[in-house]
Amino acid sequence: MSIIDTLKKTVRGKQADAQDNDILDTLKQEHDDVAELLDQLVESTSAAQRKKLLTSIKVALVPHLRAEEKVVYDAVLALKGKERQTHGEEGYMEHALGDKMLAQLGKIGNAMSPEFSAAAKVLKELVEHHVEEEEKNIWSDVEAAFSDEDRIAMNKKFLAAKKRVRVPA
Ligand SMILES: [Fe+2]
Ligand SMILES: [Fe+2]
Repeated sequence: MSIIDTLKKTVRGKQADAQDNDILDTLKQEHDDVAELLDQLVESTSAAQRKKLLTSIKVALVPHLRAEEKVVYDAVLALKGKERQTHGEEGYMEHALGDKMLAQLGKIGNAMSPEFSAAAKVLKELVEHHVEEEEKNIWSDVEAAFSDEDRIAMNKKFLAAKKRVRVPA
C-alpha cells in the first residue's frame, strides 16, 4: 500500500470515528474550542485579530447552537418531567441571548473600544455560564434517557444539522 493510500485510509477512519462518537463527546469538544476562541477574543490587543476571532466564533458557535436546539433540546423537551422541560427552555433562552450578543458585537465598528471589550466579556461570561449548566443539567437528562446507540444516532443527526445552518454575516 502506498503512503497516499495509507493516509486516505487514516482520514476515512477518523471521519468514521467522528460520526460514531457519542454526541456528548462531540459537544464537549466544541465547547472547549469555543471557550478557547473566547479567551483569545477577550485577551487580544489587535483590532484586526479581534474581528477575525469574532468571525471564527460565529462560524463555530451558530451551527452548534442551532443543531443542539434541534437534536438535543427538542429531544429533552419531549421527555416527561417539568424539570427536564425547564432545562430545555432555559437552554433555548440562553442561546437567544448568545445570538443577541453576537449581533451586537458585529455592529461595533471599533474592536478596541471599551464597548467591544465589554460585549466580548459579556458573551464569554454568558457562554461559560451556559456551558456549565448545560453540561450538568441537559447532559444528565440525555444520559438518563438515551442509550449509547441513541447518542451515536443523535451525533450523526447533529453533524448533519450543523451543515445546513446558515451563519449570519
Ligand atoms: Fe452546547
Ligand atoms: Fe447550548
